[in-house]
Amino acid sequence: MVMTALIVYESIYGNTRAVAEALAEGLGDARVLPVHEAAGHTEEPDLLVVGGPTHMHGLATARSRQIAASAAHEDGGVAVEAAATAEPGLRKWLHELPDRPGARAAAFDTRLDKSPWLTGVASRGIAKRLRRHGYEIVDSESFLVEDSEGPLEQGEIERARSWGAKLATMAAGGAGRPQEASA
Ligand SMILES: Cc1cc2nc3c(=O)[nH]c(=O)nc-3n(C[C@H](O)[C@H](O)[C@H](O)COP(=O)(O)O)c2cc1C
Repeated sequence: MVMTALIVYESIYGNTRAVAEALAEGLGDARVLPVHEAAGHTEEPDLLVVGGPTHMHGLATARSRQIAASAAHEDGGVAVEAAATAEPGLRKWLHELPDRPGARAAAFDTRLDKSPWLTGVASRGIAKRLRRHGYEIVDSESFLVEDSEGPLEQGEIERARSWGAKLATMAAGGAGRPQEASA
């Protein structure tokens, strides 16, 4: 059976997008969509993978995305994704996501390299919201940035590729025991 996968991400500085693209490579054949483009999509992939940056200990808000984008503009040298503040953001999109009981999904985030107790972990909130729509979470993962604007820490792109490959195996129902995300 050929598995279909859709990766939906939100990203301000491009780090979460880079992880999403590496995941797609690991998954083999996955569509990657920024969240504002995913709105209105009716496809029902075998695996839905959803990721975003950790902002203020959780999912980004419209306000935190604006703060992030304007901080970068003040900084000058930091590039901001074209759709950084586009609507819908991940929160709204997840709220409006149609229910799909039993469908498989995975959640990821990017965050700072400190204790999760200090940083918060956006993928927990993403997984919680996906479960509310009936999804079964096969796994969730964080990828670490060196600083708020990035870059990703060394090795994180390779780790994202490996995680994508692991997800493909899990979603196909093969080796690898589905793991309950921690919140
Ligand atoms: C407004 C704002 C709030 C943030 N809050 C947190 C936080 O609570 N915990 C954390 O680990 N990182 C935090 N960060 C850092 C982000 O996690 C980091 O910018 C993000 O992973 C980069 O992803 P992106 O390049 O896809 O936007 C924050 C960044 C911004 C701009």
